[in-house]
Amino acid sequence: MDPARGKILDVGTFGLNQSHLPAHDAGPFDPRNLFASPKNSFEMEIGTGKGTFLVQQAVRQPDTNFLGIEWTAEFWRYAADRVRRRELANIRVLHTDATEFCRYWLPDEIVTVIHLYFSDPWPKTRHNKRRVVQDETLRHFHRVLKPGGELRLVTDHVELWKWYQEHAHRNANLFDIKPFLSPESAREGEMVGTNFERKFAREGRPFMAMTLVKRQAPMAARMSSQSSSQSAANGSSIQPNPRSFSRLPDPSPL
Ligand SMILES: C[S@@+](CC[C@H](N)C(=O)[O-])C[C@H]1O[C@@H](n2cnc3c(N)ncnc32)[C@H](O)[C@@H]1O
Repeated sequence: MDPARGKILDVGTFGLNQSHLPAHDAGPFDPRNLFASPKNSFEMEIGTGKGTFLVQQAVRQPDTNFLGIEWTAEFWRYAADRVRRRELANIRVLHTDATEFCRYWLPDEIVTVIHLYFSDPWPKTRHNKRRVVQDETLRHFHRVLKPGGELRLVTDHVELWKWYQEHAHRNANLFDIKPFLSPESAREGEMVGTNFERKFAREGRPFMAMTLVKRQAPMAARMSSQSSSQSAANGSSIQPNPRSFSRLPDPSPL
């Protein structure tokens, strides 16, 4: 897989990898501080791919900071190079597993929108656990979103759509289900206008979408990044999943 087709890519200061993160048990890491205006609204895209949504939307929202998270090295490098060439100061692209990043590093209530477009469907039952949306990730998304913050989901995959619906209904104490509104950067007839969407649209596939809006949750369902990193440090309950870190293909130093 070589999205760059042999071209030399340079992520500059726009591409980050795990070496830029503190140890997982060193307390939360606030990615808003990566930007010149850290008080601006902060959005994340999980599974950035080639970065098409980010580069299209970030120019239309100059007062919002965007963090793209991508675990495939080739796509991370491609997206970060694209951002560097366009000098889009309100985007950074991080090479890591977004679910681990959310769980172990992100502080509470800092994100306005989490974008998750055309996420890998992992159709085999034994692989379903690799899907980004799980009950546990929804609890972490809820924790890191600001009050009223949104998780925006689009897919072409019928089974994954059913999975999203089941998870949304099961976690109705955390999120209200609302219609999906396309971003300003989407072209006419597009949901978002990502690379995969354009490819699937040419194949005539239908798309399904929803927005999950954060509700104020009952205390018992709330969690804090402090408590998860503390329990990891104590060796008690939650530990980073070494399998998922080993899934990361060779993050290259900048
Ligand atoms: C099917 S592609 C879609 C890319 C892009 N969103 C689009 O619509 O064109 C899914 C991408 O998500 C990435 N991905 C899957 N799980 C991830 C995770 N847990 N953290 C970060 N990236 C992930 C994959 O590497 C892949 O590039």
